[in-house]
Amino acid sequence: MDLQLRNFALSKANAIMNNLTQQQSGFLKGKKVVILGGSSGIGLATAKAAAGEDAKVVIVSSNQERVNNALKELPEGNNGYVVNLNNEQQVQDFFTKLGQFDHLVYTAGEALQLINLADVAVADAKRFFDLRYWGAFTAVKYAAQYINSDGSIVLTGGIASLRPGKGWSLGASICAAMEGFTRAMAIELAPVRVNIVSPGVVKTNLWSNMTDAEKEAMYSGIGNNLPVKRVGEAEDIAQAYLYLMRQQYGTGQMIVVDGGTVLV
Ligand SMILES: NC(=O)c1ccc[n+]([C@@H]2O[C@H](COP(=O)([O-])OP(=O)(O)OC[C@H]3O[C@@H](n4cnc5c(N)ncnc54)[C@H](OP(=O)(O)O)[C@@H]3O)[C@@H](O)[C@H]2O)c1
Repeated sequence: MDLQLRNFALSKANAIMNNLTQQQSGFLKGKKVVILGGSSGIGLATAKAAAGEDAKVVIVSSNQERVNNALKELPEGNNGYVVNLNNEQQVQDFFTKLGQFDHLVYTAGEALQLINLADVAVADAKRFFDLRYWGAFTAVKYAAQYINSDGSIVLTGGIASLRPGKGWSLGASICAAMEGFTRAMAIELAPVRVNIVSPGVVKTNLWSNMTDAEKEAMYSGIGNNLPVKRVGEAEDIAQAYLYLMRQQYGTGQMIVVDGGTVLV
């Protein structure tokens, strides 16, 4: 290739890269991002990060006080609503009233029970699918028709499906079910992109049924054995949701953000 042609190819490639970078850095500006489970933890961190990029954020949880407190941490002009995501009618009514939007994020969850198969009651086991799996399923069912065609859905799993410990039958099953649901929706709802984030252990209210001492022991016990030497913060994980909203080409994919847990 002569020098002139090479320089032309290089300047063209640079122009495309600059254009893409500009598009991506301003991509969420003015976009409506709905975060179910946005009053706390990973959802709230994602809400703050999206609002920081000038997205119009709507957070949802089951508790008015927690929604109000979370809204105080977001810039003026963002909105919050109370919806019990276990209640199909409430979910349908919410999306009907909300109308058209760009990105749906589902981070609602509750503390999981770690229990061996021999000791778990089957009825209790089934109930653990309600919010994390059926809640997400219901939300996607009623939200999909309102999501703009260049928008996306980002769901939440966890590394229990890839690296379960003893007593993790429920967590592993729910996470694997969410992964399968994500791939199926990427096909069914295309061109809307559907992806999933799979976190390792993250310091959030999810662990609020433990005492502070128990939590700290768990965080340092797990963290010290990870390649990155710490457990995750909600802000670490939020970046993956933002990336999956911004990028334009990946669908049906899972991003694992776990400090290297699945490797060790
Ligand atoms: N933290 C971790 O170590 C970790 C690891 C792997 C995967 N995950 C997954 O990541 C997701 C987010 O967890 P997190 O750690 O951010 O937990 P979190 O801080 O406890 O947040 C959970 C959110 O779900 C909302 N929620 C709970 N029940 C609800 C209901 N019935 N209707 C509507 N909203 C409801 C909570 O708000 P209200 O209580 O106000 O309703 C809160 O906003 C979960 O799916 C969790 O399984 C977390």
